[in-house]
Amino acid sequence: MSMVDSFEKIPVKIFPDLKEGSLYVANQIAALITEKQKSNKTCVLGLATGNTPKSLYAELIRLHKQEGLSFKNVITFNLDEYYPIDKDAFQSYNRFMKTNLFDHIDIDPANTHVPDGEIPKDNIKTYCAEYEKKIEEAGGIDLQILGIGNNGHIGFNEPGSSVNSGARLVALDNSTRTANAYEFANISQVPRLAITMGISNISKARKIILMAWGQGKAPVVQQAVEGHVTEHIPASLLQQHNDCVFILDETASSELTRFKSPWLTGECEWTPKMVKKAVVNTALKIQKPVLSLTNSDYKDNGIGDLLVEKGDAYEINLEVYYMLRDSITGWPGGKPNVNLPNHPERSIPYPKRSVIFSPHPDDDIISMGGTFQRLHDQGHDVHVAYQTSGNIAVTDEFVTRFLDFAVGFENMFGIDSSKSTEILDKAKAYLKQKKSNQMDTDEIRAIKGLIRRCEAKATCNYVGLPEENSHFMNLPFYETGAIEKKPMGEEDIRLTVDLLRDLKPQQVFCAGDLADPHGTHKVCLEIIFEALRRIKEASDSWISDCWVWLYKGAWQEWDISEIEMAIPMSPDQVRKKRYGIFIHQSQKDMVPFQGSDTREFWQRAEDRNSNTANLYAQLGLTKYAAMEAFVRYHF
Ligand code: F6R
Repeated sequence: MSMVDSFEKIPVKIFPDLKEGSLYVANQIAALITEKQKSNKTCVLGLATGNTPKSLYAELIRLHKQEGLSFKNVITFNLDEYYPIDKDAFQSYNRFMKTNLFDHIDIDPANTHVPDGEIPKDNIKTYCAEYEKKIEEAGGIDLQILGIGNNGHIGFNEPGSSVNSGARLVALDNSTRTANAYEFANISQVPRLAITMGISNISKARKIILMAWGQGKAPVVQQAVEGHVTEHIPASLLQQHNDCVFILDETASSELTRFKSPWLTGECEWTPKMVKKAVVNTALKIQKPVLSLTNSDYKDNGIGDLLVEKGDAYEINLEVYYMLRDSITGWPGGKPNVNLPNHPERSIPYPKRSVIFSPHPDDDIISMGGTFQRLHDQGHDVHVAYQTSGNIAVTDEFVTRFLDFAVGFENMFGIDSSKSTEILDKAKAYLKQKKSNQMDTDEIRAIKGLIRRCEAKATCNYVGLPEENSHFMNLPFYETGAIEKKPMGEEDIRLTVDLLRDLKPQQVFCAGDLADPHGTHKVCLEIIFEALRRIKEASDSWISDCWVWLYKGAWQEWDISEIEMAIPMSPDQVRKKRYGIFIHQSQKDMVPFQGSDTREFWQRAEDRNSNTANLYAQLGLTKYAAMEAFVRYHF
């Protein structure tokens, strides 16, 4: 058993991204189906829903349509369904399976089984027993596909589910309901119950593939793969299965010991970044400032190798301390007229043209409001490129409130208000009969976008930017009117290339969010990267002088050892940023699609920024009130 294996108790395959991971799983499924076809056998698949398997199903559809893969011999059993829920409700898993797979392949509908969320409660026990019997009669599951919940659930077997549990009605954890709330208009509409196959049903599958994508899943993947077998993390029970593999993308695997603390799993290449990571992690773990670590601390915490390679702890501590110290600067655009070779940014050219790409209309101020303000105050030519309209996150109530204002305004000044009254009446009538999750009309979406645009303009004004420095890109990939967005398209890239060519910035800031692999931030980032790649390929002269800095969106912060530029903030600057965030009134209090974090955006931002400052202080550096953090991207 290798060192990696001694930490990892379930085989793990890691792919650069979810596309490649999904392709691999799709090919495994296709191979199984064709192998069974050759001997005239049926192939029984256990299927999951949720975000995770979407790209797998898309690839299976492609294999069917373009490569002739037939599903005629396939029988499927889905893991779960909300209860109660109408089969054709927008959020039902019955509907999900039809729209994401069954309707596009040649499977016999009679061979597909998804638990029924419509049956009367009294019949559920019998129904579940019959569901299990059907699986047995089909010959048992050949291959079970799973996702994993942030709390470690598989199917809807929430923490505490027994290894022996069978198909049954369960109560959903609050954390699951909040995580899935994005599919519903708000948390109160997420069903409290669900029908799920049990752990014992899942474990009987001859082969199990669990897929996980994105950084958000990394902590629970680590616990399931490396932790104890415990019913508190249901996925860890899979350690006892003899043919189970976890298919991960790089970000979902990032908390595994082999990446998190590679020095513990065997030979490790001691690059300066790795030294910084090892020493910083050790200092935080044993709660000592970096400069107080001793040779014994190194040896006791698995980084004794460093002493052999690099010399005494004292020397290494200093090296890491200087790296941390040099990452802190009050000059995010570089400090003019001084030569500071270790400063994160260049001092020339000064002033710089800086472009802040903001995926939604408030990410600029939430994630880097302090830095934004400093760049402007220090004389740089700051532009903000708002990538999407953010219209989906505005409540209907805001629309009528603003339309009422528009009509009132016109009446007050004797302007003909017949057109706005007509729009208002139409909107009111539409919204009154609107069902949860029904798509808005184009008109209402445009109004919602305008509300957010005005908020973003007001924020730029508050920071001090001239009006022409805010750019509203309205990237088309976002404009589906639904939660689900399109992948990046040519038009998105063209608009971004054009803007960059127009501005020719020396500095670009963008949201480097990899936490949610299906989210808007990830697509926004891909678009910028592709635009930069094309500009570089075309050898535009200005591009070699353009540095790219990544900030994190509202959800997470960089690992402290990764940070290459930390911008400190005083208590006054923290307050100024808070008021800047408040300008986004449509995003205050309960917003639709808030995700599992119930804090308001200004609270998340402040917690995150003060936490970064505290970590620097714990490591022995000066204590600031707050800090914003950036990592440089080399393209
Ligand atoms: C869905 C299911 C759940 C999901 C899990 C992850 O059928 O059984 O266990 O696999 O909640 O959900 P996503 O993939 O949306 O992150």
